[in-house]
Amino acid sequence: MANLEAHLRVPGPTPLPDPVREAGAWQMVNHRGPEFAALMARVVPALRRGFRTAGDVVLVGTSGTGGLEAAVVNHLSPGDPVLAVTTGAFGDRFAKIASRYGADVTLLEVEWGRAAEPEAVRGALAAMQTAGRSPVAVLLTHNETSTGVTNPIGPLAAVVRATAPAALLLVDAISGLGAVPFDTDGWGLDVVITGSQKSWMVPPGLAMLSVSPRAWAAAERATMPRFYFDLKAHREAAEKGSTPWTPPVSVCFQLDVALGLIEQEGYPAVFARHAACGAATRAGLRSLGFDLFADPAHASDTVTAARVPADLDWKRFSADLRARGLTLAGGQGKLTGQVFRVGHLGYVTVHQILAALEIVEAALAAAGRPVDRGAALVAASRAADRAAAQVAEQATGPTIETTGAAGGTEVQA
Ligand SMILES: Cc1ncc(COP(=O)(O)O)c(C=O)c1O
Repeated sequence: MANLEAHLRVPGPTPLPDPVREAGAWQMVNHRGPEFAALMARVVPALRRGFRTAGDVVLVGTSGTGGLEAAVVNHLSPGDPVLAVTTGAFGDRFAKIASRYGADVTLLEVEWGRAAEPEAVRGALAAMQTAGRSPVAVLLTHNETSTGVTNPIGPLAAVVRATAPAALLLVDAISGLGAVPFDTDGWGLDVVITGSQKSWMVPPGLAMLSVSPRAWAAAERATMPRFYFDLKAHREAAEKGSTPWTPPVSVCFQLDVALGLIEQEGYPAVFARHAACGAATRAGLRSLGFDLFADPAHASDTVTAARVPADLDWKRFSADLRARGLTLAGGQGKLTGQVFRVGHLGYVTVHQILAALEIVEAALAAAGRPVDRGAALVAASRAADRAAAQVAEQATGPTIETTGAAGGTEVQA
């Protein structure tokens, strides 16, 4: 039976705004022709503004994991010492890719639910240096989607720059970039990876990577095998307004439209919206009696993980939620069955979060659990208001001039 309610609240793919959905139905163009070149001439500068980089941004037809693989194989050689800082399932995946291609990976494993600490990274780098294995690269995860933790990339990068200046910084920002403040050049990041199906409000199909001049130089020396993911081929094709292989043309149309919507809204407003949705989700779930998994000091504004109570049958409960129109995500890796996750990134508003919380509340009541009907919604909307006010207060920093398609968007530093 079709459900009139359809709340997809997983941490990607996210729902799509109508203009983005409609762009997916447009007629094909020649991906080697002038229409596609014009699209690339809009999309690449818009992505540069989103990443806050003056460097190159390349589009690769692949999922986020493909983007991580591209970052590894273009910049590293077998045997290279690499420090992989992992705070969850996606940090582990990045490390595994590097190991699989023959890098000599040292893991700095952080307890799941906590963020990586700059001092721990400093210690791990120093230990590698003392052992004569100065790292060629450090792998970081910006937003750990499996635990709902956002790592402090600025301070972590600063420690790497100070302790191991030659190390490349490769950052998985797949589920955070575009939703929360991020500064690729300001933080000195070499390769940053994101995916179309996350904050960008676009279907899956594209990985977008920024590549610093240092990273391009490293790519000339690096010897890991690569063909499809050869970023140099992507850069050369981009210079001609194309991609080296046939891209997912419809997803490119959709990205073009979505970037226009994001710039119309303006990044400060996008960040404030995500801060409000994150705060509302956390306050609402807490009010409903759930324990949140992430360290509150580093709670993500794009995904929240909550513990499944021992006396709640998650399979049955999530099936009931789905029947009521709400789709949430389960736990990943070693958190399978222990947590559930609510995605609040991309095309999402506080009102939609309140609707999702109301469905959870109704399902809890139907399961015979004690619920103070409406209390979670009040807590959530108050938290959203507080978060929005806080962001507005913080948004008084310096601004950088950009020349967005939407006509000179300003991005708060
Ligand atoms: C932080 C992070 N890294 C990597 C990935 C993998 O992306 P994909 O599933 O598109 O391959 C995801 C997807 O959820 C993610 O959230």
